[in-house]
Amino acid sequence: MSVDRNRLLRIRVSGPVENGFLERAAQVASGVGGRESVTESDGRWQMGMQRQEIGIGIVGGGYMGKAHAVAMSAVGAVFDTRLRPRLAMVAASTPQSADRYRSQYGFDRATDDFRVLVDDPQVEAVVIASPQSTHRAIAERALALAKPVFCEKPLGASLSDSRAMVRAAEAAGVPHMVGFNYIRTPASQFARHLVASGEIGEITWFRGEHTEDGLADPASPATWRTEGDANGTLGDLAPHMINAALAFMGGIREVVGDCETVIARRPSADGFGDVAVTNDDQAQAVCRFDSGAMGHLHFSRVATGRKMGYRYEITGTRGAIRFDQEDQNCVWLYRMDDAAPEQGFRQILTGPEHPDYRPFCQGAGHGTGYQDQIIIEARDFLQAIETGKPAWPTFHDGLEVNQVIEAIRQSARRREWVSVADFR
Ligand SMILES: NC(=O)c1ccc[n+]([C@@H]2O[C@H](COP(=O)([O-])OP(=O)(O)OC[C@H]3O[C@@H](n4cnc5c(N)ncnc54)[C@H](O)[C@@H]3O)[C@@H](O)[C@H]2O)c1
Repeated sequence: MSVDRNRLLRIRVSGPVENGFLERAAQVASGVGGRESVTESDGRWQMGMQRQEIGIGIVGGGYMGKAHAVAMSAVGAVFDTRLRPRLAMVAASTPQSADRYRSQYGFDRATDDFRVLVDDPQVEAVVIASPQSTHRAIAERALALAKPVFCEKPLGASLSDSRAMVRAAEAAGVPHMVGFNYIRTPASQFARHLVASGEIGEITWFRGEHTEDGLADPASPATWRTEGDANGTLGDLAPHMINAALAFMGGIREVVGDCETVIARRPSADGFGDVAVTNDDQAQAVCRFDSGAMGHLHFSRVATGRKMGYRYEITGTRGAIRFDQEDQNCVWLYRMDDAAPEQGFRQILTGPEHPDYRPFCQGAGHGTGYQDQIIIEARDFLQAIETGKPAWPTFHDGLEVNQVIEAIRQSARRREWVSVADFR
């Protein structure tokens, strides 16, 4: 089936950002969720409608490039989307690796030059899954051609890169989205619904962390992740949890931050000698949200024992919520209204009644996984392209995260409270 390219490329974004998940979560809560309640504007195929193919170009075929290739291959089957991705082209840093990704993931073609991919007429939307230093140039080129862009986190390698990317997105007026995938688990979507609907009262405290131990071993060699601000813990890991903090709590007003490099030198990747690590291994910030609530954020890539410590605890006047990505198929909920002898955190296992769970699995408690988050992102990106409605989180949301990161960095340097508004 051929693509109506003119229609896709003329899509214009307008109006406020919509958090579609809240409507879906509300449908679930009111018992009207489920396949039948989904309307045409949700981007699903319905009897009588024509499916349309859309050519996807992915820059990068490593960790995230593979996840997006698999997601684009599976999203139609999982969510019955009207737009059906075709893996048109993959770009990587060498011809050999690009061709390997083409063959393994099922792309039509491969290139070692992202410009070839972006300019190709068969590529109608671009996914950026290459290191942060490349995000801006790829996004600006694609947006100049009015091609929708999905960009992996963080949006830009710096605050100025992110600002430029937002300007380019606004000028292009086509859908743009950032890859904050962890907030898309059915459990975290449900937790957002609990907070937004006032289930735990007024929020007084948010504690979030993103801790891993991928670089805890001093013998782990230097990579692109061990040099440059954008690739340190604040630049690379913090964006996910800052995005979560903003999603749950609204804006962050001010921060006091601290960061440090724990392992100052690492073996060189080529095996000869060692090299200096030029970015942070761990960081933390105390913050005040616009709402007045207090918060604490902690990030580390040397947190021994933590494999995927994306965790948050939200305290409200009527209850509390706990979540741990290492146990991503449940939310822990405490309700003050429970009878005193029964009070305690209760584990709620996710199931078909929770947002975006049923399309993956009909059995409660069977669980969804990492790759499923990326498929949910792909559904939202395709839906934005089809409907012209922005899909959260947009480039604006990515920029907001970069502003908080910059405030934490400045605070750590100046050893004082810093207002996030100074970076807007
Ligand atoms: N959302 C998540 O859960 C998550 C997880 C890991 C990484 N990321 C982000 O995804 C992006 C990629 O990280 P990764 O872990 O997949 O990296 P990776 O090192 O595994 O893969 C990077 C890929 O980019 C390609 N590449 C590098 N420079 C290029 C260029 N100039 N032109 C074309 N291709 C180029 C490489 O060939 C490789 O295929 C980064 O922005 C990172 O922050 C997100």
